[in-house]
Amino acid sequence: MHSSHPSLLIQKLVTTIERHGPITFRDFMEAALYDPEYGYYMTAGPRIGKEGDYFTSPDVHPIFGTLIGRQLAQVAEAVAPGGEFMVVEQGAGKGLLARHLLDACKRDAPQLLARTRYIIVERSPEMAQLQRGQLRSFLEDGIRITWHADLAVLPQNSLVGAFISNELVDAFPVHRVVRRPLGLREIFVGWSPPDGEVEGRFIEIEAPPCERRLENHLSRLGISLEIGQRAEVNFQALDWITHVARILKRGIVLTIDYGHTASDLYAPMRRDGTLMCYTGHRACESPYENVGRQDLTAHVNFTDLALAGREAGLEVTGFTNQLHFLMGLGIEAAFGSAAAQECDAMRNLIRPDGMGTTYKVLVQHKGLPAPVLDGLRSRPFYHDALYAGVPGGGKGEREWEAVSR
Ligand SMILES: C[S@@+](CC[C@H](N)C(=O)[O-])C[C@H]1O[C@@H](n2cnc3c(N)ncnc32)[C@H](O)[C@@H]1O
Repeated sequence: MHSSHPSLLIQKLVTTIERHGPITFRDFMEAALYDPEYGYYMTAGPRIGKEGDYFTSPDVHPIFGTLIGRQLAQVAEAVAPGGEFMVVEQGAGKGLLARHLLDACKRDAPQLLARTRYIIVERSPEMAQLQRGQLRSFLEDGIRITWHADLAVLPQNSLVGAFISNELVDAFPVHRVVRRPLGLREIFVGWSPPDGEVEGRFIEIEAPPCERRLENHLSRLGISLEIGQRAEVNFQALDWITHVARILKRGIVLTIDYGHTASDLYAPMRRDGTLMCYTGHRACESPYENVGRQDLTAHVNFTDLALAGREAGLEVTGFTNQLHFLMGLGIEAAFGSAAAQECDAMRNLIRPDGMGTTYKVLVQHKGLPAPVLDGLRSRPFYHDALYAGVPGGGKGEREWEAVSR
């Protein structure tokens, strides 16, 4: 936990801690990633891809975006046949997913492209600039693409189309908790000042949770952590899906990310939780190293998104993994004509021992009957696993009728 390279961000955090006391891990992560001056995503530098710290699917091979484009074309027929089709992409990173899916649309469905409005919601000005570069040719062709920094600008019931994200929710800051014999404790971050030869460093402090909501949330999911087990809770994900549901009038929400159902995410085998730190394609030990210069991320709780979405009016269309999703959309056919190197890259997207199963795909819909989607063609094998263990569960709920068509 040594902070061997003091930076302005560290100084800022230390000042806050010295003035107000230890901060929640959530607030620490928020600052490390999104401090407007020094946060990891808010400053210049390669983040995603070969030159950066980690790969995402759009970086692995353009077929990912091509197939999502194919899926959206099918959604457009169900949601807005002949009319304006809106796509909102939040957290678009380098803009590759947008570019690849719009490329596919231009090639395979030019009429759809002409009636598409693409809206990017991107918090990071640095990322938004990269996205503008990637999408320049579409802008020059008059394709309607606009940018916003915050979801809050999109009016309620304004979206007729699709809301998509890839690896957005895992980048939201999380609370961290640990179960002790006397109950649930939250992990706060304090500062131990330099002492002689010993450098100043961030330290973890366990204390009763800052909000009762943490304990309530886990028990609502039927989760009881083992003594010593650590876990993360992503409240921003709940607020986010509720917000998305309000914006959507008619259409789908497509969320792709690494994660699990609640019962898997909080299983005793994940004793240390799922928080990860990445720099230069290496997983790092500690979130307190390289503060503001490494990525911090935690696996997504898809049960949360399904339950909070349901409360806000979104029904689950299907839940599957990236392997089944891309197979349903026809990735197999692309191997036939591709060179060996291309095949290797495409294979990485669907590896059963890698991205194919780590990444999950949740589709929710609102304002229309459950759409029939090729990505969910092989009937989502996760089935009612989303609600497993949740008191009162989701069993017999209407949305599961939708997936057993
Ligand atoms: C892990 S990157 C994923 C980028 C891209 N979707 C991809 O797959 O390569 C997360 C992205 O979400 C953005 N982001 C994080 N929180 C956000 C928020 N609340 N609103 C909009 N963008 C956000 C980050 O700036 C970054 O561009």
